[in-house]
Amino acid sequence: MSSTRHFLRDDDLSPEEYSEVLELALHFKENLFYRRTFEGPKSVAIIFDKNSTRTRASFATGVAQLGGYPLIIDAGTSQLSRGEPISDTARVLERIVETIVWRTFRQVDMLKMSKYSSKPVINALTDEFHPCQVLADLATLAYINGTQNSAREQTNKQKVEQIRGKTLVYLGDGANNMAHSYLLGCATAGVNVRIICPKNYSPNPQVVQDAHEVARKTGAEIIITDDVNTGVQGAAVVATDAWLSMGMDKNQESERADEFRKFQVTNKLMSKAGPDAVFMHCLPAYRGKEVLEEVIEGQSSVVFEEAEFRLHAQKALMEHLYIKEGYF
Ligand code: CP
Ligand code: NVA
Repeated sequence: MSSTRHFLRDDDLSPEEYSEVLELALHFKENLFYRRTFEGPKSVAIIFDKNSTRTRASFATGVAQLGGYPLIIDAGTSQLSRGEPISDTARVLERIVETIVWRTFRQVDMLKMSKYSSKPVINALTDEFHPCQVLADLATLAYINGTQNSAREQTNKQKVEQIRGKTLVYLGDGANNMAHSYLLGCATAGVNVRIICPKNYSPNPQVVQDAHEVARKTGAEIIITDDVNTGVQGAAVVATDAWLSMGMDKNQESERADEFRKFQVTNKLMSKAGPDAVFMHCLPAYRGKEVLEEVIEGQSSVVFEEAEFRLHAQKALMEHLYIKEGYF
């Protein structure tokens, strides 16, 4: 057992640390080789129990840019899939690699991996949370907002400070990993967050309570509503996600489509948000379902900047966790 710092959910970073990581992400955007955290090369295990394009590409490339070796493991080809205990896996990997990045199903398994690893464990998506995505989204917001205000020269620290008090609105499945991470991540960053969802797809009440607890320190406002029209007013970011997440029962697809239809992101809905509102989606997106082509391919869409920021934000996170532990 160890007391190592991990990133299993968004509020594992304090508000101060979260801002530091966002600022570091903006430095990495300016200079891909800003830090050489894993020079050696030291290696980082990146394990996938679910499909991935962005997470795989950004972690592998990020570790390489930090001077390290990315060891990509598809769970189907590892002993985990044969039932080797997570506690054994963690105690093997901690002796060989410097950080463990894992995409899996259950948050409790992620927790177990972290309990037995003396090296940082990073949640690359579970059924409950997707904290690396929200870190990237908020770094994107700081970057875009800094660009929109380019008349005044700003430091990266100022760009991060200026996202405080802005409002991010998320529409769709309020009970999925993105909704939960938006609640915790935005609350930690001091960004107001509104989850607009059908009542029977509301966030886990414990996560809402945890978000309120962090928000008391940062001043973020948290709203859960099923009222689309008033919900999007004044938003700086309108975000959505697939209506059916990985691992969910495919048979639910048509029932969910019926429930979520009125939460679809259209140009009409975007026009009700703030004047410079941007559209975000973690991707992959399903055009004609949660978002229309006119929005995702439109002027307000920043989905590809957002995908690029996975690289910068995760490098910043790995540097932060690894340095914090004094492994250097
Ligand atoms: N957004 C995201 O995590 O994408 P991947 O599933 O492709 O990694
Ligand atoms: N909610 C989605 C996010 C994909 C990146 C899922 O879990 O499938």
